[in-house]
Amino acid sequence: MITNTEIEYKGNLYPNQIVDFKQETDKFYFTTENGVILEITVLRNSAIRFRYATDYRFQPDFSYAISPTASKGYNQLESEETSTEYLIRTSKIQILVDKKSLRVQISDLEGNIINEDESGFHWEENHEHGGNNVKMSKITQTGESYYGMGDKATHTNLKGKRVSNWVTDQYAYTKDQDPLYKAIPFYIGLHNNIAYGIFFDNTFHTCFDFSHERRHVTSFWADGGEMNYYFFYGPDMGRVVRAYTDLTGTPELPPLWALGFHQSKWSYYPESRVKKLAKKFRDLKIPCDAIYLDIDYMDGFRCFTWDKKKFPDPKRMIDELYKDGFKTVVMIDPGIKVDRNYWVYNEALEKDYFCKRADGPIMQGKVWPGECSFPDFTNPEVRKWWAELYKELIAETGVHAVWNDMNEPAVMEVPSKTAPLDTRHDYDGHPCSHRKAHNVYGTQMVRATYEGVKKYVYPKRPFVITRAAYAGAQRFTSTWTGDNVATWEHLWIANVQVQRMCMSGMSFVGSDIGGFAEQPNGELFARWIQLGIFHPFCRVHSSGDHGDQEPWSFDKEVTDIVRDYLELRYQLLPYLYTMFWRYSEDNVPMLKPLVYYDQEDPQTHFRTDEFIFGEEILVCPVQEPNAKGRRMYFPRGKWYDYWSGELIEGGMEKWVLADIDRIPLYVREGAIIPKYPVQQYVGEKEITELTLDIYYKEGVEKSTVYEDAQEGYDYTKGYYSLRNFKLNGKEKELIIQQFKNGTYITPYEHFRINLIGLPFAIKAIEVDNVEVPLKQVKPNGDNTIMVHKDFTELHIIGA
Ligand code: NOJ
Repeated sequence: MITNTEIEYKGNLYPNQIVDFKQETDKFYFTTENGVILEITVLRNSAIRFRYATDYRFQPDFSYAISPTASKGYNQLESEETSTEYLIRTSKIQILVDKKSLRVQISDLEGNIINEDESGFHWEENHEHGGNNVKMSKITQTGESYYGMGDKATHTNLKGKRVSNWVTDQYAYTKDQDPLYKAIPFYIGLHNNIAYGIFFDNTFHTCFDFSHERRHVTSFWADGGEMNYYFFYGPDMGRVVRAYTDLTGTPELPPLWALGFHQSKWSYYPESRVKKLAKKFRDLKIPCDAIYLDIDYMDGFRCFTWDKKKFPDPKRMIDELYKDGFKTVVMIDPGIKVDRNYWVYNEALEKDYFCKRADGPIMQGKVWPGECSFPDFTNPEVRKWWAELYKELIAETGVHAVWNDMNEPAVMEVPSKTAPLDTRHDYDGHPCSHRKAHNVYGTQMVRATYEGVKKYVYPKRPFVITRAAYAGAQRFTSTWTGDNVATWEHLWIANVQVQRMCMSGMSFVGSDIGGFAEQPNGELFARWIQLGIFHPFCRVHSSGDHGDQEPWSFDKEVTDIVRDYLELRYQLLPYLYTMFWRYSEDNVPMLKPLVYYDQEDPQTHFRTDEFIFGEEILVCPVQEPNAKGRRMYFPRGKWYDYWSGELIEGGMEKWVLADIDRIPLYVREGAIIPKYPVQQYVGEKEITELTLDIYYKEGVEKSTVYEDAQEGYDYTKGYYSLRNFKLNGKEKELIIQQFKNGTYITPYEHFRINLIGLPFAIKAIEVDNVEVPLKQVKPNGDNTIMVHKDFTELHIIGA
């Protein structure tokens, strides 16, 4: 039964009595006397879509967010009618719709309420723009917490906060400032050990109130469009995040070099400076895979041109850099300079590809080149044209990857910082104003960029990065958190933002390491690098106005720390790549806040700093100056100190040591961590052995190592190597089984296995049931053993 009492708001309209009900396979329609239709679609047993029409009329059903490959299908669906309500039941949940008010209550099959309407759907007519302001209010359950919502620079747990979505160029943003560059209207609720998610797929300006205005109410609303949301049931958070990510999609695997270290600055020029930078990396033996060219490489900030004074022969330079392992990434912005002597402008003008104002003139606004016009990337024909513009840059000049910036779109010298709201967009054949298209503009731009780069780097894999994003952008692009500041508080913000983005379906993300605005001191830079190597995207970027920010810009101690941590990043590449593969294949977020890792433990619900990198590594950055250590929470289970090998019992907070050269780093017992040798860039060396750090555990644990050619598409035809390991530790024995899949032959022949935490001395070793002389497999007499990579069972027997 629906239990809440109705609350009336002035000006709001509410659905009333249901007068009609019909079912069409997986769709249910409930019509009220005053013309509201609720459409409920059962997508999966635990994924349901709710959509409301007023005036008996739905708008055309179109979304940029939903992945064309999203899973569908359920195994059970029943419905029932009583005198007061309708019931829909899947094999996981039950949905009840109240006949009098259209209010909805969702519970599990044991009758535990998961989510319940307070006033439920209501609306207000929008007399200025037409249509409605659509609203939804839900009851906040006892002890409920909230997570997700993209790049919000605020506490991981959103309880008590109100946030909004309107992608915004927010230079030097501050903690709690909102909105920022991303619009991801997806949140996760957690109460009574039940997690669920809500994705409000509405691209207008949206707001979410998590018990901020009223303690017992959670609500969300939009300035237009439809009340159209997806509900995902857990009960664990992993299922919720994976279901949302499945619906909105994941990227293909990037080239492995994209997971290496990248160095950027606004701006490196001319060529001689870029060359010097590259040489310094190699001279100092600091690993680096990519160098970025910011706007100044262009001729007067005209996209798809080069300033030939600064870069007389870009193709030669890019080739030379590449010979030394560096990939060149260049910036492309959406603003096209208004200039009759500029071919891109003329082409767009001729083809009528620029956005126009309501009454017809082409929309103009100031960005770096002065007055600009903006291609309407929501028009598929414009996207095709834009993709083709990359032919010269990629196929002819040899640029490896592209960075899309200012694509909110950012417009200078106007209070709104963006296009006027009356600007018209095609919206893939659903013409609309900027009110509706604003939040997706940047995503459609980077989508077109991705298509172009993908086409012209083929048979290699594309890599692109964007600043603005709407839900689903992750299918095409990586991203960064925008113009942060070189402060300790921003180190905290970067940590929270990247975790939050991972929970919001977009894992390929990082921050401007060291801070974009202002200048870090060596200590802050070192601490930021220590965190940054555990972010999926790892790039130093900063504004040239504030001094140098290269690994050697501070003192030697800092340079050495940076080198050590970048070396660790490169060693962990197979682990990171496996994380990415899991994200791409199984929708698993690459970083997991502690609440994701163990929601049953209430201690995790308000933690912000600690996170799990992949499946097995616990990281807790130091976010204060002069620290020799810090307090941190260890989730339940046992954790090995990465540095000392000491075993720590979790489920409690502890003081841990963390002098300037140490980040608190722990590995879950039973983990198998794959490592490559240190390289100066991906592909520098042939991998002649794979190191497996095996952390002993009494009991059973599973782990995976995914590898392939690190480039190209052969992996899609089965040329990959998937190793599933099962570890079984006993008092005097450790058994490792390997199950192999895929036809890719890894270049190395053997594993170097480091056994950590082994509680016994090794007496004998059997490989595939044959005892091998210890001298042969354990040449150094320590706990390192060398075995052929194709073993199926390894028995380590204790004395
Ligand atoms: C703003 C971007 O956020 C920043 O990363 C870039 O350096 C500047 N635009 C200049 O292109």
